[in-house]
Amino acid sequence: MKPRALTPSVLAVGAVDWDNRLFDSLIPLPDGTSYNSYLVRGSEATVLVDAVEPGMKDVLLGKLAEVPRLDHVVSLHAEQDHSGSLPDVLARYPGADLLCSVKAKDMLVDLLRISPERIRTVGDGEELSLGDRTMRFVATPWAHWPETMSAFLVEEGVLFSCDLFGSHLATGSLFAEEAEGVREAAKRYYAEIMMPFAKPLRRSLAKVRDLAPRIIAPSHGPVFGDPEWILSAYEDWISSPPRNRAVVAYVSMHGSTRLLVDRLVDGLAARGVGVHRFDLTATDLGKLAMALVDAGTLVFGTPTVLGGPHPHAMQAAYLANLLKPKAEHLAVVGSYGWKGRAAEKIGEALGGLHLTVLDPVLCRGLPAEEDLAAVDRLAARIDALHREKGFG
Ligand code: FEO
Repeated sequence: MKPRALTPSVLAVGAVDWDNRLFDSLIPLPDGTSYNSYLVRGSEATVLVDAVEPGMKDVLLGKLAEVPRLDHVVSLHAEQDHSGSLPDVLARYPGADLLCSVKAKDMLVDLLRISPERIRTVGDGEELSLGDRTMRFVATPWAHWPETMSAFLVEEGVLFSCDLFGSHLATGSLFAEEAEGVREAAKRYYAEIMMPFAKPLRRSLAKVRDLAPRIIAPSHGPVFGDPEWILSAYEDWISSPPRNRAVVAYVSMHGSTRLLVDRLVDGLAARGVGVHRFDLTATDLGKLAMALVDAGTLVFGTPTVLGGPHPHAMQAAYLANLLKPKAEHLAVVGSYGWKGRAAEKIGEALGGLHLTVLDPVLCRGLPAEEDLAAVDRLAARIDALHREKGFG
């Protein structure tokens, strides 16, 4: 794919990764991803914003083949999917300096062995003149690491937002408005990458609102030519109260836990509580993460295995604890052969969320009528809590 123009002075020169199916050796990528890089040409200086994943460096360098000179390279984020090709870019353009935030400098030196003499740090609000264009640096910490910043091309209203507002989506469309599946990909990305930092991101989001960008150009996925919907979506995901929804994530070995889950899902649905049900032996963890964005209650269904929860349930609980969703309640249902501490251990794994823990429903072997009645009471309790708290 050739470089494509975003605006009169901005070219997209990054790489689309159609085939990657796993990011960070963890995150499923059902639709691939992209590593965006932007060339900004002012009347007096040319700047490259971010490099790409090192495995894609030839794509970037190929797109820069007709660019004889770079005056500056901007590194918005030290993580290697943005910075990994910087050593090659700096080697090709020995006259360019590397601009980054103060916190990014040591990271770039340690992660990539870039010479500190090539690096110039920039502060929040600092401006770089490119002649007829001005690049303003905007501190956006925790989007996604503490050193992360954005850059704003003042005259054209383009915000280079780095990971913020990104999506793991390989597409031939430059703009989100022309690409399919962007909303789901953006929410999945938010859930997996940004949700743990929802609180510090509020400040960055307010800063972006104040800038009133005409275009938002993230480092993954398509560009937003009409940024309003992605800004509104982020405000909703970050700040709205939980919805009247429950995530029911379960694993069943011999069918008993599944019977409890079936009953609970029916009971919640009958009461109007939205249910996202996930069989943890088969589910895409990215879908689970997406459902966590809005849920008011988390329910784990797990048999007891060797005295504790099934490892799939523990993995999901551990992940949910890391992602810091805004859910307020936790329940555990499951069966056991003799006895164990499945419910306590799930609660401990989710300790960082400070959830209200509802009475678990645990049964020996196949659920009896009284166990199913206890599940019905649990469904009623979840519904009542959601109503009391006004989860819409
Ligand atoms: Fe796209 Fe935090 O890396």
